[in-house]
Amino acid sequence: MGEVTSRYETLPKHIQVKINDLSKQQNTSRDVVIEAIDYMIESGKCTEGSYDLCVDALWKEVIAKTGYPSRLSPTKEYKKNNDDGIVGPVPRQYGMCTFHPSIERGKVVKRDGIEWSEFPVYVVDKTQFLGSGAYGDVYVGKKENGEEAAVKMINKAKMTERGIDYRDVYKEIMIQSKLFHPNILQILDVYENKFNISIATDIMSSDALKFANAHSVVGFTDPVLKCIVRQLVNSIGYCHQQNVAHRDIKPDNILVQGDTKNVSCGKLCLKLADFGFATECTKTQLLNTFPGTLIYAAPEIIEGVRYNGHKSDIWSMGVTLFVIATQKIPFVFKGDTYAYAEAQKSITYQFDNRFKSLNPKLQRIISGMLAYNPKDRLTADDILKTEYLQ
Ligand SMILES: Nc1ncnc2c1ncn2[C@@H]1O[C@H](COP(=O)(O)OP(=O)(O)O)[C@@H](O)[C@H]1O
Ligand SMILES: [Mg+2]
Repeated sequence: MGEVTSRYETLPKHIQVKINDLSKQQNTSRDVVIEAIDYMIESGKCTEGSYDLCVDALWKEVIAKTGYPSRLSPTKEYKKNNDDGIVGPVPRQYGMCTFHPSIERGKVVKRDGIEWSEFPVYVVDKTQFLGSGAYGDVYVGKKENGEEAAVKMINKAKMTERGIDYRDVYKEIMIQSKLFHPNILQILDVYENKFNISIATDIMSSDALKFANAHSVVGFTDPVLKCIVRQLVNSIGYCHQQNVAHRDIKPDNILVQGDTKNVSCGKLCLKLADFGFATECTKTQLLNTFPGTLIYAAPEIIEGVRYNGHKSDIWSMGVTLFVIATQKIPFVFKGDTYAYAEAQKSITYQFDNRFKSLNPKLQRIISGMLAYNPKDRLTADDILKTEYLQ
């Protein structure tokens, strides 16, 4: 452990205690660093002349005090880089503690005569675009060891412009980084600099929207559909078990890996992604914020009544499976939200003749997910026990 240095000593006792907790791994939040910096700025204790330098100096002390970071990777040469071309990570157990550009850029330290970069660095290749999000784009990033990841670069200024606190992204990261499941997109590292919050995740080949569109003419075979249903229901069942509601389930937030042209069940892997609207909530808790995407939103969300986030996820997953299986949407929105909500009031969705080629057992599952009354809706566990998935 390093020396206790002056800036740390100027912090109020309660913040010092939290920083000590970081080293004992009791505090997995970076909020303490933000709290400490806010305190230093407000009380005029930043003497470095700029916010960035102050953050840098304090952060170095936190590293010295806590033994941070715990992961070191060797590097021969430290490449110079521009503002947002390179991002760096966070030791996983702290969720997202990298804070400052000088750290993100993989500062080199000498230990035992070897040069180490304190954090693995991702070189983001902006020519390899993977998809676009609401506040930034997703690109391929390459680590020094050649491993590739997807890097979602969320533009802070864009969020602020639209009146959204960019720190809301921390919630997304907090929730997603606690989830470990083969059908949930894994957060590998998180970085932040003045411009972006960057999230590195498993790299996937496509999203379920593009994937379903690419197969819209012939559609998927029943074994492939079964495989898709099982993986997606497993992913949402796991979230609910962990007391997380996703609240934005739709094909563009489901990523696909494997041969997306010659699809076969054994080689297909789907992962639930984009936890931007996710929240922690129990099986019985009622929520009163109404996020999501209209076509996929449960009736109770459209109506604006307090709702159960697990049940509304099942509805959205039902619409998603409907879209993937039929390339159609179950309720057509004609520009009038009220009429749209009315259309959903059939007690459960009834498949008509257009869908006769769809396995009736799958039709029953989707209908059970599209039950108007949340109490009548199937749960993930119910679906996993149905004959279709045995
Ligand atoms: N790990 C990934 N691998 C491949 N493509 C990805 C990955 N993450 C995101 N994308 C693409 O980028 C799009 C936007 O990402 P998403 O996380 O949904 O951002 P937003 O929260 O802004 O909607 C996705 O719909 C997908 O096409
Ligand atoms: Mg998205």
